[in-house]
Amino acid sequence: MIDDLWYKNGVIYCLSVATYMDANGDGIGDFKGLTRRLDYLHGLGVTAIWLMPFQPSPYRDDGYDISDYYGVDPRYGTLGDFVEFTHGCKQRGMRVIIDLVVNHTSDQHPWFKQARADPNSPYRDWYVWSDKKPAHADQGMVFPGVQKSTWTHDKQAKAWYFHRFYEFQPDLNTANPYVQEEILKIMGFWIQLGVSGFRMDAVPFVIATKGPKVKKPVEQFDMLRTFREFLQWRKGDSIILAEANVRPEDDLHYFGDDGERMQMMFNFHVNQHLFYALAAADTGPLAKALAATKPRPATAQWGLFLRNHDELDLGRLTKAQQRIVFEKFGPDKTMQLYDRGIRRRLAPMLGGDQRRLELAYSLMMTLPGTPVIRYGDEIAMGDNLALPERRCARTPMQWSTEPHGGFTKSDKPEIPVIDHGAYGFEHVNVAQQRRDPDSMLNWTERIIRMRKEVPEIGWGDFKVIAARDPAVLILRYDWRNNSVLFVHNLDEQPREVSFAVGLPDDAGDTLIDLLGPNHSHASRGRHKLLIEGYGYRWFRVGGLDYLLRRTEVDGGGRSKA
Ligand code: NOJ
Ligand code: CA
Repeated sequence: MIDDLWYKNGVIYCLSVATYMDANGDGIGDFKGLTRRLDYLHGLGVTAIWLMPFQPSPYRDDGYDISDYYGVDPRYGTLGDFVEFTHGCKQRGMRVIIDLVVNHTSDQHPWFKQARADPNSPYRDWYVWSDKKPAHADQGMVFPGVQKSTWTHDKQAKAWYFHRFYEFQPDLNTANPYVQEEILKIMGFWIQLGVSGFRMDAVPFVIATKGPKVKKPVEQFDMLRTFREFLQWRKGDSIILAEANVRPEDDLHYFGDDGERMQMMFNFHVNQHLFYALAAADTGPLAKALAATKPRPATAQWGLFLRNHDELDLGRLTKAQQRIVFEKFGPDKTMQLYDRGIRRRLAPMLGGDQRRLELAYSLMMTLPGTPVIRYGDEIAMGDNLALPERRCARTPMQWSTEPHGGFTKSDKPEIPVIDHGAYGFEHVNVAQQRRDPDSMLNWTERIIRMRKEVPEIGWGDFKVIAARDPAVLILRYDWRNNSVLFVHNLDEQPREVSFAVGLPDDAGDTLIDLLGPNHSHASRGRHKLLIEGYGYRWFRVGGLDYLLRRTEVDGGGRSKA
């Protein structure tokens, strides 16, 4: 297969304009500020930026409550600034994907205002209504403990409306063909302005049947094909990265059996088991999760992540596994959220220990898929648990030791910068870490560089190699006659591991260490390594002639794995 599919070997970086860089000093990040930081992002090596919602919004769910799909919130700049930004990305060879939030609008969206004001408005049927309170109105909340129901009475409309999320986010009636058409129009608009695709919010809910009589929503998967076909028609290399926290047996419904639906999905199943593995130093369930999410069409790709902007949802784990993760990473009630997860950032979860952070990132980057990095993780930023719900992990980027971490010249940033404790900007910031070759920032830059040079991970086929030790995970990838192998020790204690690479003849006898000098030579087909606590090794299998072999597409070299 030719390697045009950029998302197969990309490195995605997720940020929100509001908290990245404030250029005009009003205390809120903006597109001008972000554009000035493009060389930083390019230097880090990321190949695509995922922008969280930046459209006009009352900002009651950090922009996931949109009141105009065709604009830029004036707080962040103008459409002109947006185009300057996408152009700046293009100049540097970086792509942009943006959030597409079409399961619901803000209740301040003109469509909803018209819908609630006039039962005869054409917009009435753009939302989901009921004359009476539906029997299951107190079920199916996404934010339990904060959100009271999924149906709310609207005085003006004299009817109840459906909202899968907060009550200020009325669900769009996505079964209405006009709504579907509008979704395509929104995509077409932003594609025209230079984006390469969308992170589609809440996909299972977008395509679900909705209504007062719907007890068990049924996904309308054909809709995904319609979105995909439209995108490919308008701009062939644009993609959708679906937020769909679904069971492995449903994955293929989202990718499509022949890859005709979503190009990418976040791998939530692996994410949860990855955190369990880190907490318990037990990689068995993670290996199972990798196997369960292995089947996918050749053009499809997983998005892999550690922490994102929401809580770490542990709902897939057994009670016993959940207990261990909560105990290790979020023991305090203030660290937990929605009775199911942990709301902290990665660095404080791992005790700010750089060895563990490197291990976690190394592991994430070598699992099958495309890594998605959360802004600030490259400098090991912390959280502010005094902020409500998920906001604790959405604080401004820490650039320097200047006031407010160099994020803004304003005395009063809208969202406070972390300014005290071990994760305060005086200790954790970009400027300082640039000067330190061993900093998290410089480590991240080096690991991204290497990750991009190992396309086998994104494109190849993987195999879990028996390590005979649950704390150690060994993965081998094969692609185009090349193989790579990764060893991770999730325990704090060093380990001696012995394993066979599992390739025919003597093909696996030499392992070239890609990150250090510790090459390994097998004795009677087995490698023996000593790996330190929280250690990781990236190996290329075979002799030093691998660079020559990399250019071969077929044949030559050793037999195909
Ligand atoms: C998922 C987003 O990740 C989350 O932040 C948001 O609150 C909901 N969707 C609603 O849009
Ligand atoms: Ca600003």
